[in-house]
Amino acid sequence: MADNVTRRDVLKTAAATGAALAVPRMVFAESAPVMKIGVIGCGGRGSGAVADHLAANPTAVLHAMADVFPDRLAGSHDNLKKALKDRIKVADDMKFTGFDAYKKLLKTDVDLVILATPPGFRPWHLEAAVDAGKHIFMEKPVAVDGYGIQKVIEASEKAKAKGLGIVAGTQRRHDLAYNEVIKRVHDGQIGDIVEMSCYWNQGGLWMNPRQPNWSDMEWQLRNWLYFTWLSGDHIVEQHIHNIDVCLWAKGSHPVKATALGGRQTRVDPAYGHIYDHFAVEYTFADGSRMHSYCRQQDGTPSNVSERINGTKGVATSEDFGNVPIQIMGSNPFKWESSRKRPNPYMLEHLDLYNSIVAGKPLNEGRQVAESTMTAILGRLAAYSGQEITWEQAMATKRTMPEDWSFGHLPVPAVALPGSYKVE
Ligand SMILES: NC(=O)c1ccc[n+]([C@@H]2O[C@H](COP(=O)([O-])OP(=O)(O)OC[C@H]3O[C@@H](n4cnc5c(N)ncnc54)[C@H](O)[C@@H]3O)[C@@H](O)[C@H]2O)c1
Repeated sequence: MADNVTRRDVLKTAAATGAALAVPRMVFAESAPVMKIGVIGCGGRGSGAVADHLAANPTAVLHAMADVFPDRLAGSHDNLKKALKDRIKVADDMKFTGFDAYKKLLKTDVDLVILATPPGFRPWHLEAAVDAGKHIFMEKPVAVDGYGIQKVIEASEKAKAKGLGIVAGTQRRHDLAYNEVIKRVHDGQIGDIVEMSCYWNQGGLWMNPRQPNWSDMEWQLRNWLYFTWLSGDHIVEQHIHNIDVCLWAKGSHPVKATALGGRQTRVDPAYGHIYDHFAVEYTFADGSRMHSYCRQQDGTPSNVSERINGTKGVATSEDFGNVPIQIMGSNPFKWESSRKRPNPYMLEHLDLYNSIVAGKPLNEGRQVAESTMTAILGRLAAYSGQEITWEQAMATKRTMPEDWSFGHLPVPAVALPGSYKVE
């Protein structure tokens, strides 16, 4: 938790790679040893997470980089170097490319690694990082099927036994305003939770048109959002953030789901085979429900929020009169917009770093695995049109191809409810 950060006089510094940076006052000796970090997956978020980590941890330098594509690695390195200068110390022989780049990076002497590839690869990268004895920051989501989730849970348990830290990129869990509201929910200030709703509705995202020299694999990797084996579909890739907040409030995961979904506006094969909307009804063991809605359709309004309905009140992150997070009911609370609210993308790294220094490394592996699994469960219910249980979803097979190479890779058909098989 980052609750003590408000006392730490967070200083604003320049923005780098699009991330608003904030450097906390040092809480450790000036002579603290240099912490070497590495990044696997040097795209938008991998680069942003490097900047966020360096902002949170003044002892850190970026020491090694890995990406499947040389151009992505080079672009990320140049941008980071321009913004963060001597904090970026990546020698040429510490830049690794190709599918096995992660293995090469993990053989170096980095202390902490950032995992920020498309989530399909995360279970393998996490497992290898834990085996190599590295502390880990991993982006959400952390898998795309039950097979991958089980791998993540096993690796997270192993990390715990080895004293390695794992923090996940579900940054709302480190946001001060969210923490204040969820603490009040856990203290019973809205009574018993009877229903939750969550939303990630927005327009479409980027797409890279296929180039004549790209193999199927290269095309899919450069458009990973649109292939379920890489992204998990947008309910997993994006809406996991809101599902995660509800699971945090509730303190458990659902036991089953039914859902609707489809692909109406984004039908061109350039957008792979994923859906563009989902609506899911989840049921928890106590019979309470969670309703989840997500959409990526151009020309439609945005709503990215959660609403937790209790017997004595409502906790919500919907925007009421510019108050982004509040509780309404018999115990009202408002997060005052004038209060300091440091960037949660930085706080998650600060919390990880402080926990390592304190010798009590955080381990968010199981928590983010369960939120990812909940999103996968919703996808499977929508794809199949059937009620799907947690156990059925957990038992789903590996969707990652066996062969990681640049070659032929057919695109699965768009899932058709009524005939799609959950296996
Ligand atoms: N927490 C957040 O708010 C947030 C925001 C954006 C993205 N993300 C997550 O971060 C992750 C990355 O997203 P992004 O927006 O940076 O995507 P991106 O496409 O910008 O970057 C992904 C990078 O991974 C590389 N890559 C792909 N497969 C690889 C492999 N097998 N080995 C090594 N490198 C590989 C790609 O070449 C690319 O450079 C995703 O899981 C995404 O969901 C989280």
